[in-house]
Amino acid sequence: MRHIGVGASASSPCTVRVRPCGLAPPLSPSCVQLQQLVTFPATPLERHARTAVRTTRASPPHRRLDPVSREHETKLERLAVVTGGNRGIGLEVCRQLAAQGIMVILTARDEKRGKDAVEFLRHECNLSNIIYRPLDVLDDDSVASLAQHIESRYGKLDILVNNAGVGGVVVDQDGMRALNIDPHTWLSGAAANLLEGVVLQTYDGAVKCLNTNYYGIRRVTEGLLPLLKQSSSGARIVNTTSLRSELKRMPNKKLREELRDAGSWDEQRIEAMLDEFLEALRRGRLEEEGWPTMLPAYSVSKMAVNLYTRILARRLPEMRVNCVHPGFVRTEINWNTGVITTEEGARGAVKLALLPHDGPTGCYFHQTELGIAW
Ligand SMILES: NC(=O)c1ccc[n+]([C@@H]2O[C@H](COP(=O)([O-])OP(=O)(O)OC[C@H]3O[C@@H](n4cnc5c(N)ncnc54)[C@H](OP(=O)(O)O)[C@@H]3O)[C@@H](O)[C@H]2O)c1
Repeated sequence: MRHIGVGASASSPCTVRVRPCGLAPPLSPSCVQLQQLVTFPATPLERHARTAVRTTRASPPHRRLDPVSREHETKLERLAVVTGGNRGIGLEVCRQLAAQGIMVILTARDEKRGKDAVEFLRHECNLSNIIYRPLDVLDDDSVASLAQHIESRYGKLDILVNNAGVGGVVVDQDGMRALNIDPHTWLSGAAANLLEGVVLQTYDGAVKCLNTNYYGIRRVTEGLLPLLKQSSSGARIVNTTSLRSELKRMPNKKLREELRDAGSWDEQRIEAMLDEFLEALRRGRLEEEGWPTMLPAYSVSKMAVNLYTRILARRLPEMRVNCVHPGFVRTEINWNTGVITTEEGARGAVKLALLPHDGPTGCYFHQTELGIAW
């Protein structure tokens, strides 16, 4: 898997090139039809789960053999992996999935942080169907080791929530607090000028950001794909994106039009775009070339995540692959400037992780609603 070396020039050769996407069938029409929908009703699985939990608690053991109980047991056997599960939105996604009866593997790159998070969910939230496994999304061996563990214990994976992410900027936190930027200014992008003095986009920070947010998602997804293909319920992949990825925020008109034509992109073309971005950053030409100036690497990394989501959805029609902007959530990634809780922010990812078989695929969600990124 490609991994851009920190300090490398944009023209540095990659370690491994991933083969380009082959000819892929068009996106599921359900995705287009659903663009008008506002929210999704509870899935049959969710409705059954609620009934099933009530039934199981209130019923004698033999009742567990009725159809509702069987469906509940099927649901209990579903297995999810969440990346960056030790804090923020990822931790809450783990909690909400486990509370729905899903067996959750909470992954984190730091063993203590990961194990502490699992202990917290077990003891504070009374959830036993959750375990910790190490995973650094930047590390091939770490992904391979997780895949091996799942293969030997479970033989399949049903849900992958690619949540881990970094902002990739250096921040003067006191200066940031002093600015006291209101949420509207943040979300509209109007904060870009204000942030100039307190947020620094370094080249190395940009490389780390692209490696984590885009190449990290690819590394984990490709490493776990053979297991996702074994899911009898049709796997769900949820990629965490951001409203910074919305194409209206891309000043370069030509690139914006090209990005809009998502069907013509493959991984090689995404890599070429990211290399061009890094080269522009290295030469100090981001503004002249029309790249986003507010959190530049972060914005471009999430545009790449959206494109990759569409590529995967085309290539894996048996799965449901979507990306979600969680909302402006109060977490460390935005120096706790967000305005909604992790409980609210996790709902979109959980919804997409539990989509029914005929749910949308290849779509962008703004929290729990279909959104428009392209
Ligand atoms: N908060 C928002 O308003 C907002 C808005 C749009 C999108 N998002 C997206 O939501 C996702 C979660 O962010 P958050 O808000 O919950 O931020 P957060 O609290 O900073 O959490 C980020 C998580 O990613 C993990 N991580 C970073 N690099 C990793 C790596 N190499 N390997 C494994 N894990 C790694 C972190 O682990 P460590 O603890 O080890 O650093 C942490 O668990 C991100 O993808 C972010 O871009 C957030």
